[in-house]
Amino acid sequence: MATIHDTIKELKKQRNAVILSHTYQPAEVQDVADFVGDSYGLSKTAAGVDADMIVFCGVRFMAETAAVLNPDRKVVMPDKKAGCPMADMLTADQLRELKKDHPGAPVVCYVNSSAEVKAESTVCCTSSNAVKIVASLGDAEDIIFVPDRYLGRFVERNLHRELILWDGYCPTHALISADSVKRMREQHPDAEVMVHPECTPEVQDQADHVLSTGQMCDLVKTTACRTFIVGTEKGIIHTLRKLAPHIEFVLLSPSLICPNMKRTTLAKIARALETGETQVNIPPPIADKARTAINAMLEITEASPNA
Ligand code: 13P
Ligand code: SF4
Repeated sequence: MATIHDTIKELKKQRNAVILSHTYQPAEVQDVADFVGDSYGLSKTAAGVDADMIVFCGVRFMAETAAVLNPDRKVVMPDKKAGCPMADMLTADQLRELKKDHPGAPVVCYVNSSAEVKAESTVCCTSSNAVKIVASLGDAEDIIFVPDRYLGRFVERNLHRELILWDGYCPTHALISADSVKRMREQHPDAEVMVHPECTPEVQDQADHVLSTGQMCDLVKTTACRTFIVGTEKGIIHTLRKLAPHIEFVLLSPSLICPNMKRTTLAKIARALETGETQVNIPPPIADKARTAINAMLEITEASPNA
């Protein structure tokens, strides 16, 4: 009898499809994907994909980015309800109002945002390039940074400048406390602590490394450290263990689970391949403007990839 893995493999061939997965996806989803990566890696991969169908295992804003970059390809989400609460904290109307209060200020928009919000922005960023993207705007007096206030604070600290911030945040990362980092350090005295910049500044202060998920993956390939306490979504533990089986990875808190990232299952992937549902459709006028902001990010980042 055919297994779910056989079915996915066969349907992928029939549909000429690729499966992209974020590192926060369940382990079994990451294991059937053609590419597993962080938001930036996924945007870059989506921009160069050669397939008729992209099955995007992540949350809506990520699938929307892939759709914006691939207007002629079919992008489908295995679960259409997989959203991002942080992205929902800012609407395009709210951003238009904020822009009116700061005329002429460029808008840097974290990719964790809707296509409509991206369409109102100058340039996008991910957690891996936010500092570089804001720095590329030179000494613009006012810069609007939306929607994540903690990633914004991380950029402010790195560039020693103030930004006009929105009050959004990730409900999953905001659950971690500075005290929980201290407690975990006592239990694992030889460990280094890495946290995502979506954590609060107080948590970032307690960490040895503040890194995007992609940067975490890079670090463990070269480090001499043998134990890491990991302050980001649970799914990445699977990714990290595959990359560095000799390292012990301890999740900073059992509450580090993004429920939306966990909506994808193998059965839903098979159904998405079979039915082509649910397709992500962005109206062309919005997609065109959002593409300009995403492409601006890709150009700035690729101009000096290691800077
Ligand atoms: P990355 O940019 O590190 O992939 O993170 C995306 C995200 O949603 C973090 O919560
Ligand atoms: Fe959104 Fe947070 Fe989930 Fe990332 S972890 S997708 S920011 S809710």
